[in-house]
Amino acid sequence: MAHILAIDQGTTSSRAILFDAQMKRCALAQQEFAQHFPAAGWVEHDPEEIWSTVLATARGALDQGGIAARDLAGIGITNQRETTILWERDSGRPLAPAIVWQDRRTAAICAELRDSGHAERVSALTGLVIDPYFSATKVKWILDRDPGLRARALRGEILFGTVDTFLIWRLTGGKVHATDATNAARTMLFDIHAGCWSAALCDLFGVPMAMLPEVRDCAGDFGVTDPDIFGARVPILGVAGDQQAAAMGQACFTPGMIKATYGTGCFALLNTGAEPVASRSRLLTTIAWQLDGARAYALEGSIFVAGAVVQWLRDGLGLIDRAEDSGALAAAADSEQDLVIVPAFTGLGAPHWAAECRGAVFGLTRNSGPAEFARAALESVAFQTRDLWEAMRADWEGAGETVLRVDGGMCASDWTMQALADTLGAPVDRALVLETTALGAAWLAGMAAGIYPGMAEFSQGWACERRFEPRSGPELRERRYRRWQRAVRAAISV
Ligand code: G3P
Repeated sequence: MAHILAIDQGTTSSRAILFDAQMKRCALAQQEFAQHFPAAGWVEHDPEEIWSTVLATARGALDQGGIAARDLAGIGITNQRETTILWERDSGRPLAPAIVWQDRRTAAICAELRDSGHAERVSALTGLVIDPYFSATKVKWILDRDPGLRARALRGEILFGTVDTFLIWRLTGGKVHATDATNAARTMLFDIHAGCWSAALCDLFGVPMAMLPEVRDCAGDFGVTDPDIFGARVPILGVAGDQQAAAMGQACFTPGMIKATYGTGCFALLNTGAEPVASRSRLLTTIAWQLDGARAYALEGSIFVAGAVVQWLRDGLGLIDRAEDSGALAAAADSEQDLVIVPAFTGLGAPHWAAECRGAVFGLTRNSGPAEFARAALESVAFQTRDLWEAMRADWEGAGETVLRVDGGMCASDWTMQALADTLGAPVDRALVLETTALGAAWLAGMAAGIYPGMAEFSQGWACERRFEPRSGPELRERRYRRWQRAVRAAISV
């Protein structure tokens, strides 16, 4: 009874990772699933495919590790956040495709709410900006399409959940309808100060409270799996949204610590401690975790294009064959040239929130070639991170001198991590365990099971694989950053 299974249900794939009693990874299974784009700006997943890939990878990881379900001390779940699923309480049948966090179909609903003056109140209660990113307008959109559905939801026949909640419901055979505080905080229906669903917001978005899950601590009892699923009853003991799980996996437990996870996009979280900090710089205020009823908060910044810029170099421009070749190509760039790429392929996220902005290239010369494009593309990720870094400092003085802890696929590039340290003017620590998201979920479950250590000991065990110290001088750094800022302003104004 000394293993923990972490289920990491992400935007493009489902993963299951088995950890042993020492929190060492001993098996990993991963399956990608289909992305559906039925209209411009729409992004959907099939909830049944989410479920089948979770089951297949969970079973796959157990097989690979040679572990029977009865030998598990518990399961931890971490997930793509905000993605919205509605299903029937009786049959468990989803009523619509999952509307993914990236989906923009509710932009008009959001604009109307902002125009009617609701932005300030929503932000004060939830810490969020009114944007299609969050779940509330997605639920409203589904319910508005069929008046019968809202009536059924009012009677408690239809349930809402983010992906964690849907998985808990399915795994427990329909016995538990629950979520954790970090996922609840991303719905735009949750009062992050009081730690409960807001009746006023549910009213504003037309979401019946009867369809909402119960909100629990991140580590604790989320029910047991139906024995038909894995052949044994396994307790579900940990739940957190993936970015919060990564912050825990990175042991960012002390106020002032920051982590950035570089996947397709990048999500940076700054731990601000027990008090939520309201952003003046258009960052989000969110719940970092809730343990034993006590909440810790974070300021969060999201960049939509990080690893995606490397995919663009590879698939869009055909400049490299493999993502890992991008650093070597960038290193060959002519240092006399100063190409700037603003990779606003799908608009700009925090702190600009410029949905209509599109990408731009500045500083082209006759000599600009593949290497200069690679360098500018990778540097754009560093510059965007600096935008978040500056916003965090402006919002909270506790974010003074600090280190950035990084994880995610892009961190494998030494060149990019050095560029990041140079651009921030601060050290960048690459974690030894890059599976920080799954580790965070496993830690929550293992702690609840009593087999993993508490925060202090877990922090001591966190290890840095490599620290990147800034090498470039402050004058060059600031000059190049100001140039980036001018490029962003120009791209937004076109
Ligand atoms: O807020 C969205 C975020 O949770 C998605 O993360 O890693 O699935 O792209 P990821």
